[in-house]
Amino acid sequence: MVQVIWPAAAYLLGAVPFGLLVARRFGQDPRRSGSGNIGATNVTRVLGRRWGALTLLLDAGKGALPVLGCRWALAGEPSAGWWVAATGLAAVVGHCYPVYLRFRGGKGVATAAGALGAVCPAALGVAAAAFALVAGASGYVSAGSLAAAALMPALAAVLCPAAPVLALAWGAAVLVWVRHADNIRRLLRGEEKGWRRRG
Ligand code: G3P
Repeated sequence: MVQVIWPAAAYLLGAVPFGLLVARRFGQDPRRSGSGNIGATNVTRVLGRRWGALTLLLDAGKGALPVLGCRWALAGEPSAGWWVAATGLAAVVGHCYPVYLRFRGGKGVATAAGALGAVCPAALGVAAAAFALVAGASGYVSAGSLAAAALMPALAAVLCPAAPVLALAWGAAVLVWVRHADNIRRLLRGEEKGWRRRG
C-alpha cells in the first residue's frame, strides 16, 4: 500500500493555491474581487491575461505532474491504472478543498484538465475545443467549463475506454459541476460575470 503516497502527495500539491500566490505578488487577493475564485479566470479579471495564463499553466501542471509521476513509478503493476486515477482525482480534490485555505478552494477545471490530459490527451483536446466554442459563443468561461466537464466522461468512454480513466473523468466532472453551483445560479439568472480585466 506504499502506492497511497501518490494520491496523498497529489492532494498536497493540488492544494497549493497558485492563483492566490501569483496575485499576492501584486498585493492582490482574488478571493476579494470578481467571482472570489482563486482560479485562472478570476486572476485574469484581477491581474490580466498574462497572469491568468500563468495560473492556468500552474494549476494544470499540478494535475498532470503527479499523474505522470505515478504512471511512471507504478508502470507494470496490475493496479497502476487505479492508483493513477486516484492520484488525478486527489489533485483535483486538493485544488477544490485545500488544507492550506481551510478547505475553501477553487473549481477544479484547470487541474482536472491537467490530470485527464495526462491519461487521455485526445479527450482533453476535444473537450478544450468544446470549451473554447461554448465560452466564446456565450462570453462566459464558466459555461465553457461546464460544457467541457459534462463531455469528459463521454469522451473518455469513446477515446480511452479503460475503467480507471472513466472513473477519473466522472469524478472530476462531478466535482467541477458541484464547485460551479454559484456560477450555474448566476448563469440561470443572467447575472454571470465575464472574464475581462476590471478597472
Ligand atoms: O474555471 C473556473 C471558471 O469556470 C469560472 O470561474 O471566476 O467565473 O467563477 P469564475
